[in-house]
Amino acid sequence: MGSEEHTRAFCRSFVETHRPFRPEDIIWPELDAEGLLRLSALPIWNEAVRTEAETALKVQTLGRVEPDPLLAEEIALQGYEEGRHAEILRLLTAQYGIVVDPFDAPRPPRNPVWEFVSTGYGECIDSFFAFGLFAIGRRSEYFPAPLIDVFEPIMQEEARHILFVVNWVAYLRSRAAWVARPFFDARRLWTLGAQLLEHARNALRIGGGNGGSQEGFTMTSAYAFEDLSPRSFLELCLAENERRLSLYDPRLLRPRLVPAAARFALRFIPNSSSGNGKAAAPAGPPPPPPADRSTAWPT
Ligand SMILES: [Fe+2]
Ligand SMILES: [Fe+2]
Repeated sequence: MGSEEHTRAFCRSFVETHRPFRPEDIIWPELDAEGLLRLSALPIWNEAVRTEAETALKVQTLGRVEPDPLLAEEIALQGYEEGRHAEILRLLTAQYGIVVDPFDAPRPPRNPVWEFVSTGYGECIDSFFAFGLFAIGRRSEYFPAPLIDVFEPIMQEEARHILFVVNWVAYLRSRAAWVARPFFDARRLWTLGAQLLEHARNALRIGGGNGGSQEGFTMTSAYAFEDLSPRSFLELCLAENERRLSLYDPRLLRPRLVPAAARFALRFIPNSSSGNGKAAAPAGPPPPPPADRSTAWPT
């Protein structure tokens, strides 16, 4: 890890799997009244629009200050993709008349490197659950397939982003002097712990009925689908995580913590304690997510 070969491999993987398209070329499907209602009722839009704008700025800033030209190019490409996510959301909300609250322009990160690590670790947590939710969304036909298709490349881009960040962190660690590595590891653990704590806090707050916030994203959104068995949902997340990341160079590191935690949790969730197993084969559209619960939007 961190060798010239490893660095080239994860950079090459990232650039070769970049999918060029322009948000303005997206053909937005017509939605009937029920589809419009379902879409606008998702309690994610304020948070999603704000988060994408913040993430784009963080990643683009790092791309400008990264001294290694190859890495700078790949990080700038990721910043471009995050900016594209923000633009797609802007177009979507305009297309379907979804009102988004105004928000302050994001501020450039004070420490681009560690804010990128923090954001990347947050993406590792969010994406794991988002992959499962997205699969449910497609199977259940809760939204029309053409609309789901618009978001498929974005979901896959998140898989590329989390793959990039874990390999980049390994690269950074390998470049640190050996005396500095304990400090690097401590900071990395602190950053990861802060993200886990923030996600857990949001999950507890929303789970405890103090919703209304659009924060928390994917960890809490599993229960937006009332019929979902926790076991089936975790199994689906694991399968989708594996499927999406299997497309890339097998020599590269994968995010491990959240999948390992999910596998560990599954040891304590008996089959009988789960719901009706609809995650494995949804029989029909799930009910609309309650307004005080978050749903998936990885950054
Ligand atoms: Fe991302
Ligand atoms: Fe994004």
